[in-house]
Amino acid sequence: MIHANTPAKHPIESSHRTRPVVLLIMGSQRSGRVCPQIAQWIAQIGEACTDLAFEVVDLADWPLPVDDEPELPHRGSYRQPHTQAWSEKISAAAAVAFVSPQYNWGYPAPLKNAIDHLYGEWRGKPAAIITYGGHGGGKCAEQLRQVAAGLKMGMVATSPALTLSEDVIRHGAALDPETEFASSADSVKQAMAELVTQIASLSPA
Ligand SMILES: Cc1cc2nc3c(=O)[nH]c(=O)nc-3n(C[C@H](O)[C@H](O)[C@H](O)COP(=O)(O)O)c2cc1C
Repeated sequence: MIHANTPAKHPIESSHRTRPVVLLIMGSQRSGRVCPQIAQWIAQIGEACTDLAFEVVDLADWPLPVDDEPELPHRGSYRQPHTQAWSEKISAAAAVAFVSPQYNWGYPAPLKNAIDHLYGEWRGKPAAIITYGGHGGGKCAEQLRQVAAGLKMGMVATSPALTLSEDVIRHGAALDPETEFASSADSVKQAMAELVTQIASLSPA
């Protein structure tokens, strides 16, 4: 698994250039968030059950000020170096997976902002949505799916919904994704398998 903006060190990471890369885009930037642990757990499953490379993308490492581009994103003529870099990052990926908490029945604002900075880069991009929350984050998934449809992303059918326990949400208990989400591991594997198929359908024979 690879972390954004860090040099590859692990043997898996060093072979990442030869494998299609799936970006796991984290929806949460909150301090004290559980998102990185969840994204890493998903990356481990993905590495184990596919030949894809997985890179966790922390939007905190991608400062994209709100509405700072003078042109509409669909033109693709970005003036800001950070938007150009974000565009290249998404364009170079074989697929993306949004790993997002549900916030007040929706998804976090920084994720919408990161999506809205681009337009054509998302079109046809194989993509999965993995949400979490007290009830799995289904409302968040619904909203993300609607946005992804508007952008004509190549969404996979399976949307794993990971249920956080009361202890984690209310009492800040340590999260062990392997135990907490044991019953959802198959659904994550299924989403990854669908991503492989989606990527293959776009690759030249
Ligand atoms: C602003 C905010 C809104 C939330 N709204 C919901 C919600 O609608 N449904 C839910 O199940 N949990 C909700 N939660 C609880 C989150 O599921 C829980 O805090 C989770 O750990 C958030 O992910 P993060 O720690 O990676 O940021 C909310 C948390 C925050 C911070």
